[in-house]
Amino acid sequence: MNSQTRERKRDASKKSWAEPWKVKVVEPTRWTSREYRQERIEEAGYNTFLLKSEDVYIDLLTDSGTTAMSDYQWAGLMLGDEAYAGSRNFYHLEANVQKYYGYKYVVPTHQGRGAEHLVSQIYIKPGDFIPGNMYFTTTRVHQELAGGAFVDVIIDEAHDPQSEHPFKGNIDLEKLEDLIKKVGSENIPYVSLAATVNMAGGQPVSMKNVREVHEMCDRYGIALLLDATRAIENAYFIQQREDGYRDKKVAEILLEFCSHTQGSWMSAKKDSLVNIGGWLALNDPGKFDEARNLVVVYEGLHTYGGLAGRDMEAMARGIEESVDDDHIRARIGQVEYLGNKLLDWGVPLVVPIGGHAVFLDAPRFYPHIPQDQFPAQTLAAEIYIEAGVRTMERGILSAGRDPKTGDHRYPKLELVRVTIPRRVYTQAHMDVTAEAIEEVYWNRDRAKGLRLVYEPQYLRFFQARLERMD
Ligand code: F0G
Repeated sequence: MNSQTRERKRDASKKSWAEPWKVKVVEPTRWTSREYRQERIEEAGYNTFLLKSEDVYIDLLTDSGTTAMSDYQWAGLMLGDEAYAGSRNFYHLEANVQKYYGYKYVVPTHQGRGAEHLVSQIYIKPGDFIPGNMYFTTTRVHQELAGGAFVDVIIDEAHDPQSEHPFKGNIDLEKLEDLIKKVGSENIPYVSLAATVNMAGGQPVSMKNVREVHEMCDRYGIALLLDATRAIENAYFIQQREDGYRDKKVAEILLEFCSHTQGSWMSAKKDSLVNIGGWLALNDPGKFDEARNLVVVYEGLHTYGGLAGRDMEAMARGIEESVDDDHIRARIGQVEYLGNKLLDWGVPLVVPIGGHAVFLDAPRFYPHIPQDQFPAQTLAAEIYIEAGVRTMERGILSAGRDPKTGDHRYPKLELVRVTIPRRVYTQAHMDVTAEAIEEVYWNRDRAKGLRLVYEPQYLRFFQARLERMD
């Protein structure tokens, strides 16, 4: 061993780490030719949501429902109690939401948007305003369908891809208070707080911020409700970045964070390591009663909410695994591995690197493509053509149109999300992905923008079709 190698060995910060699991089952993937992929993306209207999964080599479209479950979860599927009412798996799920998130009452839903629908219908009356830390697509559409208007009160740094602020998900207390004074607290049913913030790049909210927002909400008699979809990833960032939390367990931090809120909606397809499932949890018995009543109209009885008993069991078990410190460190460590590699090569990204994904900054890839020619959508298509890696646009197409004016909304962030499923891909997959993105970056001058040829009314990014500009 030469002296340099020994030097490196002694430097603890350069030690390799590995995932706290080993692989038991594998699913083959398929490599295809560039010509084949060019044809497929044209056929898909340059929309990665319209590609067939079998034509994708590495699928980084989303971390939603794409998790590999553990043997403990798979074993739980065999213990599904498929009774119509009162399934034992519901009680396991309820107990774990109470234990790990700390809320009193739990209503299961088929996934996150089922819970968003319920919470929006229960809390919002037409004409209300719902302040929040940046919109999320499905969250906002349910708030609008209930007659409300979402108002962004996130700190300005969140809209700047190059700001290194450690908690870019924070709410700006001044913006929030200005809105309360302007429209009146009686027209604000709740503050909609997401942790982490998906559209800002998977950015966290600090404990200090949730504490202060809680105090302000209390002062004005407004509820504070949490989108807990990636709250465990948020808790990990608090542990790593906020004074006083370094020696606390992620599970403790999660409980403390949730204690500042009166309820949560959840897409368990992310943090909770399952392929389907969600819930709404509330502390207010009256609101819970309304939720339990409404869920039977839209999802199913209040002890299954559109899920099979086995799915609730997998979710209950997934919650237990999701708060494990070793798990979450490896999960976010893999995202950081990919992000740091790209940063080293000079590829423009949102910094700090987020919890569930690396977000590429499309305007810095393609300064020659104006926003209404969909630079991020173009970039996602190019990455697919390059190496069969599927990613997702998070920019003007996702932002949709203003319901009043009918014009595009022009978000400040025009990003491509390279989203990492939990416990699915290896570091080698990250290497292939990084090399593909770097290649696209080198060829950036040649890219041409896109034009819309078909656009659905709601959440247009899922089904829109586009074609290349001449
Ligand atoms: N809230 C957040 C922050 C989300 O990221 C999602 C879904 C939802 C709510 C809705 O949950 O899909 O279970 O109905 N995000 C997925 C994604 C679609 O790819 O980021 P759902």
